[in-house]
Amino acid sequence: NMPSLEQAFQQQIDSKCKVEPQDWMPPAYRQSLTRQIAQHAHSEYVGMLPEAAWITRAPTLQRKSILLAKVQDEAGHAQYLYAALETLGVGREQAYLQLLNGAAKYLNIFNYPAMNWADVGMIGWLTDGAAIVNQVPLSRSSYGPYARAMIRICQEESFHHRQGFDLIRTMTEGTPQQRQMAQDALDRWWWPTLMVFGPPDADSPHSQRSMQWGIKLFSNDELRQKFIDQTVPQVHYLGLRVPDPCLKLDRESGHYKIGPIDWDEFKRSINGQGMCNQDRIQARNKAWEDGSWVREATAAYADKQAALKTE
Ligand code: 3HC
Repeated sequence: NMPSLEQAFQQQIDSKCKVEPQDWMPPAYRQSLTRQIAQHAHSEYVGMLPEAAWITRAPTLQRKSILLAKVQDEAGHAQYLYAALETLGVGREQAYLQLLNGAAKYLNIFNYPAMNWADVGMIGWLTDGAAIVNQVPLSRSSYGPYARAMIRICQEESFHHRQGFDLIRTMTEGTPQQRQMAQDALDRWWWPTLMVFGPPDADSPHSQRSMQWGIKLFSNDELRQKFIDQTVPQVHYLGLRVPDPCLKLDRESGHYKIGPIDWDEFKRSINGQGMCNQDRIQARNKAWEDGSWVREATAAYADKQAALKTE
């Protein structure tokens, strides 16, 4: 007897055959992908804000051009992801409006302020480091347009990650004040970065289905652990200290054990009560308003061109 649509779909997923926009997909698969890709796109779009404030304050021309390139990359990442979202039937304008009216989620980490130049290094080294750990598996996820967007994004993220590490290394090899600045920034960014990977597996309502459908290839805790294991040695290489008195290398497993994560802080930061949530949404609304004349002008131009064609 013929397999049901759901069974055929699950066979497609299990055979690692990509799901493409024109394929049948369970409504819940479309909904979960729409939710995740929208947040991913918003994260890239809002993610430009914390470091943008430092483009005009970069200490050298070289650092300024690197930061410009990184922010420009992130704008592009947002565009790839909004384009992937459109293949699921969610228009760009609709997605933006959810962000602008505060309804949409984006990565917790972008609700923290970038206080000084060392923070710019931490965003590159830690946040983009976490983004790579999270995004490499997504480049193998079951939905074609999402996986393909990830391949290009991951290549550019590794440049972001390396430049952030290099920036912090320069500071740790600098004056005692610069070393202290780097340590203070690490103290402020370490724990919010661990939260980027999402709540513990036991409190992750989407993981089970997401993994069954090949959207998520590894669990939140698995990726968090992978990030910790690769980053702690880098912190020690730089002569910095991880702000976690419970940190301990478990010889058996080869994994670092960490202290408790403050999940209340996480919940506040993703539900509008973080340090910068309001400013981030206001900044995005201002950019939207400031850009409305461009949208009107291009629409007027398009209408004029269309009218010329019909004459
Ligand atoms: N920030 C904000 N919300 C988060 C979150 C985070 N770090 N982690 C989890 N959440 C939310 C989920 O969205 C979900 O809420 P919702 O139902 O309203 O969507 C809830 O918390 C429960 O979490 P789950 O683990 O059940 O949800 P998921 O299965 O979606 O897993 C995830 C969470 C791992 C973050 C997954 O959604 C994902 O991989 N998303 C894409 C990740 C992403 O944005 N990568 C980083 C790119 S941006 C960036 O780093 C730019 C840099 O270059 C500057």
